[in-house]
Formats: sequence, structure tokens, C-alpha cells
Amino acid sequence: MGQLANPESPTWAEAPEAFILPPEHRPKAGPKSADDDIPVLSLAPFFDAIGESDKENDATSTSKDWGDVAAKVASCEEPAFRGLVADIGKACEEWGFFAVTEHGVPIALLENVQAVGREFFRLPREEKKRIGRTFEMHLGYNDSELTKNTRDWKEIFDWAVRGFMEMPESVESDYRSCKYSEATVKSYNQWPAKPEGFREACELYTAAVEHLGSILLGLVSMSLGLPFNLLHHCFEENTSRSRLNYYPQCPLSDKVCGVNRHVDSGALTVLAQDDVGGLQVKRRDGEWISVKPRAGAFVVNVGAIFQVWSNDKYRAIEHRAMVNENKERLSIPVFFDPDIKTNVAPVPELLDQDHQPPHYQPYNWGFFRKTRNNGNFKPLGENIQIYHYAL
Ligand code: OGA
Ligand code: NI
Repeated sequence: MGQLANPESPTWAEAPEAFILPPEHRPKAGPKSADDDIPVLSLAPFFDAIGESDKENDATSTSKDWGDVAAKVASCEEPAFRGLVADIGKACEEWGFFAVTEHGVPIALLENVQAVGREFFRLPREEKKRIGRTFEMHLGYNDSELTKNTRDWKEIFDWAVRGFMEMPESVESDYRSCKYSEATVKSYNQWPAKPEGFREACELYTAAVEHLGSILLGLVSMSLGLPFNLLHHCFEENTSRSRLNYYPQCPLSDKVCGVNRHVDSGALTVLAQDDVGGLQVKRRDGEWISVKPRAGAFVVNVGAIFQVWSNDKYRAIEHRAMVNENKERLSIPVFFDPDIKTNVAPVPELLDQDHQPPHYQPYNWGFFRKTRNNGNFKPLGENIQIYHYAL
């Protein structure tokens, strides 16, 4: 086993200064209008359009002929379905975030992961560190992640949807050059010995949510006027990851963040939060809005790749997670990220359709992911971002 990511990784009690945010980044008291929230959309019209009930979909129906689905939805004139596509487009433009209900993922699968997840994080630190993330092993447990070079008040457990993640072995430090080695390295999922049923619960959950992610990928594409299945080929050998975010109770909840403000760098994120709440989204007017926990719903957000694909029509919106003085919190994002060979650039069909010049030069996803990964372990100055490729 390799060197631990941050071998010394001091805890809160040992080094509080590593967690405290500069005053301008600290969470402020909630938004002025507590009623504001992201749009909530039911996916039932989609399942009706393809002639399936949302109840039938479970982890066993993960492989699908998306071309077949695309043909069905392309010819569907149902107002409820057309309305759903339009609402998704509006939500992506105005918020970059929306919640989905009637999404077809059995809630028992989520509850199972939540249960084993909480049990896992209660294990002694040394036990969790046995499957700790290292420079070589990108998946597993970590309690010293940096977001924008500040320590997050959280512990995480990451696993890849395909069982492993492949990345270029090395990348050059110049972001614009986008130069990377042809040689790649695979890191495999690391599973803890305890609690019992942990791996199975995680894998079943991810399979079901991956299916939902493919549906959302298609619907978001349609909302841009593109065919449902235009982008699915980029995800056949995806680098998608699931994560358990565990935010312990925090004595100084007004000075630290569970996850500091950031945008997700992949295509789409599907997040389940528990009933504690803490996710905040930056609205277009700059106000931070709390996303209310909704039992059985998932929060979906557009990542930086969709911002580039859509040539800025949709934007990856900043968000963050607050911590709670009295309660621990668990959230489970699945990050939908393409094949490392994907060269991300504005979709040509959209540039033609909107008569727009591209806002970005192409960048390679494997390069981006590997560079970002290096930055998660040690502060590297400014993190790689899509604006490094802006034209
Ligand atoms: C993330 C994230 C928010 C949350 O993990 O990228 O934004 O509510 N999490 O945990
Ligand atoms: Ni995020």
C-alpha cells in the first residue's frame, strides 16, 4: 500500500486553523426569503412516454438501449412530457439545480446505503484509514479533503461506478497545454471489512442511480434541443463516482464548511441528502439559498462539463454544504463523469443551431480529472477550472 494522502492529516482538535475559513467565505445566516427553493420536477411523464412505470425500474434494469428510448421520446408529443423537458431546460438555465421525484430509484436502496454508511463512519479512525485514499489509490476513505485549498469538515468514502477508475499516469503542470501521458493507471474500489453488507448496498444503489443519471443526461440534452442519446457514448467507459459525504457535528459551525463553495467538475451530479439539511446553492442574484431536504427526492445539478457542452447556456452553479452544531449529516452524490478520452468542447450541433462561436477550446477530461485529483491532495495554488479553456 502506498503513502497516505496526508499522513499527518491533523484532526479538528489538533489543528483548528486548517479548517477555519477566511471571513468572506464563512457561511452567513440563511437567506432572507426562506421560501425560495430550487424547482421540483416529477419524472413520471418520462416513464409514461417510454411506456414504463417508474415503479418497475430497479437496479436490475441498468443496461438499456438508449437509442430505442431516444426514438420513443423524440416522437412523443404528450404535453406533460414536453412540459417536463421545458421545465428541465428552464431549471438548468435559471438555477443549474433541480430536484426530481418519481425518478424510479427504489428508496429502499438509498435507505440501505444510508444505514451502512453511518455505521461505517462510526468505526474507529484507524479502521477507516485501512482503506484510505493514497496518491496511487484514488478511491476509498479520506478525512482530509481540500476544497479550494481549505480543509473540509467532513469524511468521505468514494467508489467508482465501474469498479475502477482509469486516469493518465501523469500530466504536465501547464493547464492550457493539456498534455498527458498515454500510459494510464487504474485504481480499484477499496471496500471495508465492516459493516456487513456495505459493498452490496453501495453497488446496488449506484447501479440504480447510474440508470437515473443516463435518463437525466438524455433529458438535459433534449432540453438543449439535442437528441436524447447524443452524449451517451461518452459514458460507456465512464469515470463516474459515488461518494458518501459524512459531516460530523461541529462546534464551530459558523466558521467552517462541510464542503467549501465549489462547482462540480463533471457532467451531472445526482445527490441524496438526509433530513438534516445543509446544502446551499448560489442563486443568480448572489444570494445563498438552502435546498430543503425532501424525503425520496434527488437533487440534480449541472456540472462544468455541461456548461462547456452547452456553450454557457447552462452554468455549473456554486454550491456548498453547511455543518450542524448538533447533528451529523450524510449526503450521497453520484458524479456522472465521461470517459477519460472525451475531449470536452461546445457541442457543434448547438453552435450551429444558436449561431454562436465556441466559448471554450477543447480540453481532455482525463487531463482535467488527473490534475484536479493531484490538487485534492496538496494545495497546488489555483485549482484547474473550465475558465482556463475559455476563448
Ligand atoms: C459535493 C457536494 C453537497 C452536500 O459533494 O460535491 O456538493 O450537500 N455536496 O453534501
Ligand atoms: Ni458539489
